[in-house]
Amino acid sequence: MGELSTQRLLLRHWRESDLDPWAEMNADPQVREFFPNLETREKSTAAVARFQAGLEERGWGWWAVEVAATGEFIGFTGLNPISANMPFTGVETGWRLRRTAWGHGYATEAARACLAYGFDVLALPEIVAFTAAGNVRSEAVMRRIGMTRDLNGDFDHPNIPDGPVRRHILYRIAAPAS
Ligand SMILES: CC(C)(COP(=O)(O)OP(=O)(O)OC[C@H]1O[C@@H](n2cnc3c(N)ncnc32)[C@H](O)[C@@H]1OP(=O)(O)O)[C@@H](O)C(=O)NCCC(=O)NCCS
Repeated sequence: MGELSTQRLLLRHWRESDLDPWAEMNADPQVREFFPNLETREKSTAAVARFQAGLEERGWGWWAVEVAATGEFIGFTGLNPISANMPFTGVETGWRLRRTAWGHGYATEAARACLAYGFDVLALPEIVAFTAAGNVRSEAVMRRIGMTRDLNGDFDHPNIPDGPVRRHILYRIAAPAS
């Protein structure tokens, strides 16, 4: 069914009921601090359609994340093929949680499940992650899940206009030796 579960979380397909809290978090200046702009409701909804299509097509992608004990939708975590216009190739992991879900270890827990899926099920040789330079919370997740910064990997994100969040840093993790 293409869903993952962890001790506290369910990484699942998207539901209609996710759209309101998802649009709300994408309009939150704290959540969007390291993005070039706040996201409109229209763009948020279109992103969910793309995420859900990816999950249906491949069985993996950007999963909606909910807290298993309460059913609360808190954001997304997942794995995604890297776009062709990026300066590297492969599969990335990433996360975005609503502000009230920060500080609980949820991003780290969800991302660990994604790495395990990527290595154990998809047999990926490597997974990367990237974020705007200065996004220390995201970088901390990368480090907690065992990724290492590629010191030669800094790049200007091709989809982000010139400005303070264009410069990105790159982290990598190789598949564990079998
Ligand atoms: C990036 C982001 C997901 C990180 O969230 P986060 O809450 O800092 O990270 P985690 O979910 O892994 O939680 C770690 C924190 O929970 C704490 N924590 C509390 N209970 C915990 C538990 N049971 N287990 C583990 N950690 C726990 C940790 O101590 C840590 O706290 P600290 O930040 O004070 O050191 C969040 O800041 C976010 O959504 N930002 C906006 C979107 C974004 O920038 N995404 C990345 C773009 S590439």
